[in-house]
Amino acid sequence: MCGIVGYIGSRPATPILLSGLARLEYRGYDSAGIAVYDGEKIEICKAKGRLQNLRERLEGHPCEGTMGIGHTRWATHGEPSDINSHPHTDMKGEIAIIHNGIIENYLQLKEWLLEQGCRFVSETDTEVIVHLLNHYYEGDILKTIYKVLPLLRGSFALGILCKNEPDALYCTRKDSPLVVGATDHGSFMASDIPAILEYSRDVYLMDDLDVAVLRRDGIQFYNAFADPIEKEVMHIDWTIKTAEKGGYEHFMLKEIHEQPTALRDTLLPLINHQEGEAPSLREDMMPLGADEVRKIEHISILACGTASHAGLIGKAMIEKYARIPVDVDIGSEYRYRDPIVQPNTLFIVISQSGETADTIAALRDAQQKGATVLAITNVVGSTISREADKVIYTWAGPEIAVASTKAYISQLMVLYVLMLDFCLKRGKMDAAQVSGILGELLELPQKAQLILDQKDAVQKFAHQFFDREHAFYLGRGVDYSLAMEASLKLKEISYVHSEAYAAGELKHGTIALIEEGTLVVALATQDALFEKMLSNITEVKVRGAKVLALVNDGNHQIDNEVDYVWYLPPVSNMLAPMLAIIPMQLLAYYISLEKGCDIDKPRNLAKSVTVE
Ligand code: F6R
Repeated sequence: MCGIVGYIGSRPATPILLSGLARLEYRGYDSAGIAVYDGEKIEICKAKGRLQNLRERLEGHPCEGTMGIGHTRWATHGEPSDINSHPHTDMKGEIAIIHNGIIENYLQLKEWLLEQGCRFVSETDTEVIVHLLNHYYEGDILKTIYKVLPLLRGSFALGILCKNEPDALYCTRKDSPLVVGATDHGSFMASDIPAILEYSRDVYLMDDLDVAVLRRDGIQFYNAFADPIEKEVMHIDWTIKTAEKGGYEHFMLKEIHEQPTALRDTLLPLINHQEGEAPSLREDMMPLGADEVRKIEHISILACGTASHAGLIGKAMIEKYARIPVDVDIGSEYRYRDPIVQPNTLFIVISQSGETADTIAALRDAQQKGATVLAITNVVGSTISREADKVIYTWAGPEIAVASTKAYISQLMVLYVLMLDFCLKRGKMDAAQVSGILGELLELPQKAQLILDQKDAVQKFAHQFFDREHAFYLGRGVDYSLAMEASLKLKEISYVHSEAYAAGELKHGTIALIEEGTLVVALATQDALFEKMLSNITEVKVRGAKVLALVNDGNHQIDNEVDYVWYLPPVSNMLAPMLAIIPMQLLAYYISLEKGCDIDKPRNLAKSVTVE
């Protein structure tokens, strides 16, 4: 996830681009850069690190002109560096582009461009786009854009500046956000409204494959077929502060709503998925070859907090379907039990930030004992991504709220894909079975959206129960692992004392805590365990608990046994955890909201725990 901004008008472009980038920095802060055109020369200035580094560099390298594009990067392809920073140009420096998104077929395109004699200077996927534009350019950049767009697979929001066009900036998008705005002194484009809100409250939302031509005195829009179109203007009445959160009151709520996108962005680079063809795993994106997978005798998952809860679901899936034994250790404990590392053990470390000290220490310990470590992380260039032997990324985008939501769901997505790869390579599933499950994974974003659309019901429930001092989350099997994550979400942001229990274990002691009005959330998404769950629910119900149950679509057996029931959209038992967590995150959020807590920055916590 990166931020892009562009301006063409009567004012100096550099300060406008910098202020836009400052508002987009939350989208990534590995590097920043701008390209400004004064009608003679396209000046480019870029710097690794925070925007402040670019500001300092610009002091010795002013970029003058009244049109330009800017980018703040969250590294995907290629480590954070000056060279990999955007904007990127063609070999003659006549076209400059900025890009937010991922070009999935960039390797194929790069190979072809190399054959055509292109020289690449960066490791980015983006650079193929500017070389393609240059290759097809015959004097009309708009026509060239329409030639290049069908060649690109993946997601993109692009800003394009062309030396032969001193009076126009171009932008287009597919599956990455892009807004455009006009004022009396010029036209703007940006990934997100806050970047232009200071100058314009009237914005246009770009649809997939629309192209906009921004001029000093207005904007012309074209649709995917290159026909000129009119767009409806949208008037923004948020303040800049709320707009940075995309209109959401908190980053956590915004990130919960970003989960359909995070699921899609994490899955798509790992699979082949062409219209009309059965989806399959992309072998070049799988971290281990068939021989390596066949050799695995044991898997150890190391992680902390929410990431370790994702690991528990991963364990259940890998053991059940790939039939490989899996342990899950929390990073802070692993080293102290002087673990035995058996031969042919694969270590998987999971970390959103890639900087969690306890997880890094566990990783190093495992490596010292000769283990191969595969990392699942959300941050390119992080310590864990650099130190692990192999890396597979989640593409959740920067997670700002302390409580992890979209990173967790993306970690699950990667673990499911790994499980499928292991099953295929060990002969536990055939290609058709894997394809069928990938098809279901592809449908998850849409189903996640259905849950988000019903968030008002969760809010109403939270309004009724926010004043409880204690809450218990019960589940069996994967629902127990899910209960741990649901319970952690509630306690960390609302300070309600909450416990997760294996439903069958409750009667061995904890049931003593259940009294009239105690809030119990029962997770019952697994058909094979449903009857046993029902008995455990009855046990707490008769002791006065107020029970909310989360069950599968159409399961009405529970309706008369509990006080409230929420239903998941139709989903297989295998994939249910990926949807079931969403109402639980919303529940924690709304209870915390009712209690007036500092949701994005809960007391005593930090986003990245870099101390042991
Ligand atoms: C809880 C939460 C933490 C993190 C944990 C590990 O919402 O976010 O429990 O999951 O601190 O962090 P990462 O994944 O960055 O290693």
